[in-house]
Amino acid sequence: MLRKHHYRYGTFLLLLITTACTAVSISPSRMPSALHPQGPGAARLAELWWVMLAFGTLAYLIVLALLFAALLRRRRATNLTEPEESHGGDTGRSWVIWGGIVLPLVLIGIAFGYSIYTQAVIDNQTEERTFKIEIFGRRWWWEVRYLDHGFSTANEIHIPVGVPVEIWLQSADVIHSFWVPEIHGKMDLVPTRINKITVQADNPGTYRGECAEFCGLQHAHMGFMVVAESEADFNAWVSTQQQPAPEPTDEAAVAGQQVFFSAGCVYCHQIRGLNDKAVDRSAVDLGPDLTHISSRLTIASGSLTNNRGNLAGWISDSQHIKPGNQMPNIYLNSDDLQNLLAYLETLR
Ligand code: CUA
Repeated sequence: MLRKHHYRYGTFLLLLITTACTAVSISPSRMPSALHPQGPGAARLAELWWVMLAFGTLAYLIVLALLFAALLRRRRATNLTEPEESHGGDTGRSWVIWGGIVLPLVLIGIAFGYSIYTQAVIDNQTEERTFKIEIFGRRWWWEVRYLDHGFSTANEIHIPVGVPVEIWLQSADVIHSFWVPEIHGKMDLVPTRINKITVQADNPGTYRGECAEFCGLQHAHMGFMVVAESEADFNAWVSTQQQPAPEPTDEAAVAGQQVFFSAGCVYCHQIRGLNDKAVDRSAVDLGPDLTHISSRLTIASGSLTNNRGNLAGWISDSQHIKPGNQMPNIYLNSDDLQNLLAYLETLR
């Protein structure tokens, strides 16, 4: 009696979990979902996901139906007569062969073939790539180099809508994985090699990306933003990013620029136009390029909204926000901190 109940509860629980998982995965949410594709690569993968779900569901239902059929048959057999010895012979064997070997092979084979096909389609996009972006995964942020445009930025990638863009992925330390669920599938960043993917966004918007490979203490705080915008907006953004930083004119910002030198920020962070060549950064693990930091949506690799308060908190106590990150806490007096913030705000 107890065992029968267990079976019933088990099946019920399984159904409940399956339903709950499906509900969660298709409910609209502000978190990026691979099931709300905004680009051709992600659309292919979402299609594959639904095909796999359909096959999985079909196999699950078939197995459930057979299970119930077997249970009913067994009950009938115990109630009425003893099952015949010979009953399990040829029929039993053919059930095992067709239901246990052939059917799973066919279902898994189709799903496998379809996933290979999807991979091939995504990898061999025939459209001309317009330009190239080089991305370095670092613990724990993303260095973004626009090779064809001649500037670097961090944790924020701008692309024009409807245009394929080639991305070269490399790692400066350990294995990371580049993933923008709404735009494209995952691709690893492996030390000593270059992995290439071509991404495209069909609709304008800001899409969140994540590191999808465990890479140490702050793996979970290694986010970034992909901003897909019109050709005109993209070109405007590029020409702004290409400019070197302006010389500060405001009194506080002028003083803040001096703090940038005296507090040692300059040894890890580049600000183009600010005495670049006088500083040797080859010996240190680089921090993000700050030439246009105020134009970015987030700081600390997608962890915080970019505003004055968060920036102050980050500079003063980055080890509290992202323990283990390469940036030490910078102990500044209040005037120096405010001046430094005033200077950073001029870097638009
Ligand atoms: Cu980088 Cu996980």
